Amino acid sequence: MKLFDVYPINDITIEKGAGSNVWDDKGTQYLDLYGGHAVISIGHTHPHYVKRLTDQLQKVGFYSNSIRIPLQQQLAEKLGKVSGKEDYQLFLCNSGAEANENALKLASFYNGKKKIIAFKKSFHGRTSLAVAATDNPKIVAPVNETDNVVFLPWQDEKALEAAFKQYEVSSVIIEGIQGVGGINVASESFLQKIRSLCDANNAVFIADSVQCGYGRSGKFFSHDYAGINADIYTMAKGMGNGFPVGGIIIAPHIQPAYGMLGTTFGGNHLACAAALAVLEVMEQEQLIANAAKVGSYLMEQLKQLPHVKEVRGRGLMIGIELPEELNQVRKDLLFKHKIFTGEAKPNVIRLLPSLALTQAHADQFLTAFRDELLKY
Ligand SMILES: Cc1ncc(COP(=O)(O)O)c(C=O)c1O
Repeated sequence: MKLFDVYPINDITIEKGAGSNVWDDKGTQYLDLYGGHAVISIGHTHPHYVKRLTDQLQKVGFYSNSIRIPLQQQLAEKLGKVSGKEDYQLFLCNSGAEANENALKLASFYNGKKKIIAFKKSFHGRTSLAVAATDNPKIVAPVNETDNVVFLPWQDEKALEAAFKQYEVSSVIIEGIQGVGGINVASESFLQKIRSLCDANNAVFIADSVQCGYGRSGKFFSHDYAGINADIYTMAKGMGNGFPVGGIIIAPHIQPAYGMLGTTFGGNHLACAAALAVLEVMEQEQLIANAAKVGSYLMEQLKQLPHVKEVRGRGLMIGIELPEELNQVRKDLLFKHKIFTGEAKPNVIRLLPSLALTQAHADQFLTAFRDELLKY
């Protein structure tokens, strides 16, 4: 059987990882500033994470949500404490798309309305509603097309006000920092505007924190910079440091009912062990503060490099906009300097490393990047 060929891949086979480094099958070491697409939050094969998962696997790996799973409650308490949203309620699932799918559905259950407001350049996943709220017609199949989603220009307060007048809005979904869209930071005033319009119109504010959340921005949720609370936060990626786990946290005014949401795999024993290990390491090693510190350092240094058009982001979610003619730089970082980075079209280099990235790692990247830029 062949694989269904949907990924344009690099010809590299990773066999080992530790912290912010990975090694290929020939023993070549790489610096990982991509984290497998913002997934590696506490570092590859962190010893505490490996032990907690291994210990759990030796006890029980999986059972469904038909029985009591105390690890889920432990995770909810820890997440409430670390995120500062202690009065929220946790629903566990397996991926970012699924988290957004559940959030959009729950919002509609809550207020009985249908219209979803999303924004230009947004990415919310590939399942039916999540992809319908994603601003990329190429990945929306005919069966996913719906007039329940309205796309508005990014940060256009007037358009937002007009949409609230025109439609019965069920929910507004927004990434605090757009990831796939090219690292665009939502302004504090725009997030505050969404909050006040949702309050005035009984609409649900959904903070897609799948990529920009879980400490990556230097605060637990990037939306926290605006000093507001969303009604639902969606999470995945860094939550399990590579173990597939996602979730939504839900404000107390949205009440559950049996059967409203559900999943076979979500919240299983291994997933909870992974998510707990991540939060324990984040707390113990103060990784959110580290993301803020090393991220600010990187951004300051990057702004001083030649050819860099713009540096955007917060914490360790950084976009470096380069001129079109420098589109080879990212490949050269990978194949010459052995440094993984991410990208956003047309020419943004995305840095999404582990939150444990050290300043020495940042310097290693800066030196290599400067060398490449000076060739132009
Ligand atoms: C902001 C955002 N939301 C949702 C998703 C979808 O997550 P998943 O691929 O886990 O379904 C992604 C994935 O890149 C994302 O960046």
